[in-house]
Amino acid sequence: MNKRIALVTGGVGGIGTAVCKKLAQEGVFVVANYGIPGTESRWKESMAAAGLNGASSALAFGDVTDYDAMTGMVKAINDAHGAIDILVNCAGITRDATFRKMTPEHWHAVIDTNLTSVFNVTRQVIDAMCERGWGRIINISSVNAVRGQFGQTNYSAAKAGILGFTKALAQEVVKKGVTVNAISPGYVQTDMTNAIREDVRQQIVAQIPAGRMGLPEEIADSVAFLASDKASYITGTNLSVNGGLHMYA
Ligand code: CAA
Repeated sequence: MNKRIALVTGGVGGIGTAVCKKLAQEGVFVVANYGIPGTESRWKESMAAAGLNGASSALAFGDVTDYDAMTGMVKAINDAHGAIDILVNCAGITRDATFRKMTPEHWHAVIDTNLTSVFNVTRQVIDAMCERGWGRIINISSVNAVRGQFGQTNYSAAKAGILGFTKALAQEVVKKGVTVNAISPGYVQTDMTNAIREDVRQQIVAQIPAGRMGLPEEIADSVAFLASDKASYITGTNLSVNGGLHMYA
């Protein structure tokens, strides 16, 4: 069988890089999307340090908030590497502020990058997955989608939107061999959580029953499972990986 091909949006970030490494180690050819020039250098070092090179991975620049840019990016990936079998929608940002201080820019930046991006990229790959009869869409949501978080009306709304998207699309494509699932990480050690004010971060960690933040690799392991053939009968689910911070019914 040919190598499966994965596209990871936000692939050079903390969780994205761990996902790229894990999938590449499992024998998948991984394409890491990034939207800010220069942010890919750390990814290159990290992949090289893990012994992963151009035979197992590539980079693809493109703004996930721009539908037409995503059309072009996915076409270029298809031409260079082949059709995408696995899409991990991982691109995400925060613009935390209490709602009374939140500006339209804070709102739209997060909704566009974290939620509209999922439409923009999934729309590019879904037809070919259905035609080939196999596909995996894995959407990275957040514990704060369901739990809500002080200072994150924009982020919680976007991440909750991802859960609705996941369940709706899962129903539409399951008969075509395509599964659509979400993973909801809790607080994970990345630049995103490093940006939280120190005193606030300490208060949050104190609430996590596991007594610590998660590691990017702990999210990547769940992605690899949902991307595998072992997860072929799982669709429309939301896998929470949060150290006990929030437990769903
Ligand atoms: N619940 C209730 N009240 C709270 C509160 C909470 N969780 N947090 C703060 N408050 C209160 C404070 O006690 C304070 O009250 P007083 O005015 O009476 O003293 C008031 O609200 C203002 O609090 P801050 O000083 O924190 O307000 P600020 O404007 O300086 O900061 C904020 C606001 C930037 C949103 C800051 O609270 C913050 O960073 N919060 C954390 C947000 C967060 O968890 N972000 C997650 C980022 S990582 C991520 O998103 C990944 C993922 O998926 C989990």
